[in-house]
Amino acid sequence: MNVIDLVRLFAESLDVGVLLTDAQLNQPGPRILYANPSFARMSGYAASEVIGQTPRILQGQGTSREGTRQVQRALRAEGHFLGCLQNYRKSGEAYLCEINVRAIRRLDGEPEAYIAFEREVVRRRGRPTRGGAGRYRPVEETASDIFLSDRIPGLG
Ligand SMILES: Cc1cc2nc3c(=O)[nH]c(=O)nc-3n(C[C@H](O)[C@H](O)[C@H](O)COP(=O)(O)O)c2cc1C
Repeated sequence: MNVIDLVRLFAESLDVGVLLTDAQLNQPGPRILYANPSFARMSGYAASEVIGQTPRILQGQGTSREGTRQVQRALRAEGHFLGCLQNYRKSGEAYLCEINVRAIRRLDGEPEAYIAFEREVVRRRGRPTRGGAGRYRPVEETASDIFLSDRIPGLG
């Protein structure tokens, strides 16, 4: 099973947005290999529209250049990044997005791909609550269950 199929299996029903990209950080990369339904609901782009594109399509006027440089620096230096960026939906509406990106490494240690977990932040200030309640916009509909038996012969 390749990395795209593996990520699809666990990410399809998650209520956090998931983006998988290739490991090419230089323009025109990174290229999106997979986006889950929660990412599609949050961004307004269908998964089929973003595959082959770069996550830079989510950027706009209000996106901090310093923030995106930090993503680049952190991924190159450490292989991970956690922070908030101003993203834009397909409709043009801005949303604050907490982005947690990690490298998926090959056995030789080189990144094979990057995976991002993305959530819209609706409340940044105030006392933190257990489990981050109220901080993130809840997902509007739950994705339908994945039936493993539909995808992997012999399972389920
Ligand atoms: C998996 C992954 C997800 C990303 N998601 C976003 C995102 O939601 N919004 C954003 O502005 N940049 C995102 N980026 C960062 C951009 O793709 C790009 O790396 C960043 O703009 C720095 O490169 P640049 O300086 O060439 O623009 C993501 C990167 C990766 C690897």
